[in-house]
Amino acid sequence: MNMLESDVVVIGAGTTGLTAAWELTKAGLSVTVLEARDRVGGRTWTDRIDGAMLEIGGQWVSPDQTALKDLLSELGLEMFDRYRAGDSVYMDPDGTRTQYAGSLFPVPEATQQEMDRLIAVLDQLAAETDPAAPWAHPRARELDTVSLQHWLRSESADEAACHNIGLFLAGGMLTKPAHAFSALQAVLMAASAGSFTNLVDEDFLLDKRVIGGMQQVSERLAQKLGSGVVLGTPVRTLRRNDDGGVTALADGTTVTARFAIMAVPPNLYSRVSFEPPLPRLQHQMHQHQSLGLVIKVHAVYETPFWREAGLSGTCFNPSDAVQEIYDNTNHEDPRGTLVAFVPDEKADAMFRLNAADRRQAILESMAACLGPKALEPVVYYESDWGSEEWTRGAYAASYDLGGLHRYGADQLTPVGSIYWASSDLAAEGYQHVDGAVRMGRDTAARILAATLVGTGRQELNHV
Ligand code: FDA
Repeated sequence: MNMLESDVVVIGAGTTGLTAAWELTKAGLSVTVLEARDRVGGRTWTDRIDGAMLEIGGQWVSPDQTALKDLLSELGLEMFDRYRAGDSVYMDPDGTRTQYAGSLFPVPEATQQEMDRLIAVLDQLAAETDPAAPWAHPRARELDTVSLQHWLRSESADEAACHNIGLFLAGGMLTKPAHAFSALQAVLMAASAGSFTNLVDEDFLLDKRVIGGMQQVSERLAQKLGSGVVLGTPVRTLRRNDDGGVTALADGTTVTARFAIMAVPPNLYSRVSFEPPLPRLQHQMHQHQSLGLVIKVHAVYETPFWREAGLSGTCFNPSDAVQEIYDNTNHEDPRGTLVAFVPDEKADAMFRLNAADRRQAILESMAACLGPKALEPVVYYESDWGSEEWTRGAYAASYDLGGLHRYGADQLTPVGSIYWASSDLAAEGYQHVDGAVRMGRDTAARILAATLVGTGRQELNHV
């Protein structure tokens, strides 16, 4: 058994945990990061599959994600633009295929007007909402006790408009059906990205990627932390000691520290035995957050054939298995890569098929948008985060109906010296790598402040 002592033990070497560890290390504290997997990066993971470099997890960076962009600069990582020249494709529920330019779906004018109106309503609500405290919105309870599905239909009688607006937030973001989360959760999502308009604008949201892959953020941080990051050490027990400190018992390694950061998604908190047990509030609260589900499909072709046809690769098919497709070609790669997303209940249906039938169904759905060449990729891969023991879904966690206003204000409250941090608890950058960076930094700052209080140095700073 490896017995270690540190100022801080971080559970989880995703972007949140490693950012926190790096900030604390720079401030002079000793930190040990315990990571269950045999790699760092958590939900960011860049790998070579059949000779193709694929971003299996989080990858895109939008202009507002300044915390992530600052960290990329600090780590010497560069970005490149997503390919977006050419027309997009929209598929009607009846299967009609339309090519269009700009960000507005080619729907009948009345539906377009209703979509614009709903976007304006959601923009207004997002503007009124502090992403760090959506539960403080004057209408928080009202908005949190109705599903997005029903709230949209109470706002508009245009079913197509409701469906299209819902998909940006449901299949597109929270990766749960719109009946499974509240309107307040949807407003938080929009507020965390600056506005709802930003969420419906793929040129904003999916602006850039990191050259060489997003996982490098974690890899470079881990490099700086050196032997402070211990892989293959799932934490099984987190003990609060009589002296106010903590002991983390992982496979083969035990770390005693003054503070712990649980930098894992909330759905995994209960994988750890807490001694003594967590208070009632946390026991209850943690049962109300769950991860969504989406299959991220990667299809690599000898050439980006869609570009020759004047297409950007961007496709929306709200009624089919594959809901969204984008050009995801790597930086300076002569081959062309498409990424496609199969969210929530559509993913359930696809996973009921065997692998060969699922591949065929997904490629046919892509071919309906981009033509028969889409049926013959040279590399095909499905990111299946639901099967990953140390994640169990994608992209991130959200509360069930009513949970956000009921528990949200308590989600960051430490229990003794145990702090909670992950992109799932972020304000700006909620559910995104940027939110993970922000959570890492904020949690490190809170622990440093607590450290100063302990030594009386904070008082000195105020003299
Ligand atoms: P994360 O889950 O990454 O890290 C937690 C770590 O804790 C993991 O390494 C896990 O193994 C470890 N762990 C769990 N339990 C443990 C235990 N008991 N003991 C020790 N270790 C334990 N974001 C974005 O900005 N742009 C994008 O394009 C996308 N796209 C996207 C696609 C897909 C398919 C996914 C899955 C996710 C995205 N995201 C995204 C979301 C983004 O990837 C995500 O929000 C952050 O990477 C989460 O970082 P965290 O560090 O908070 O958690």
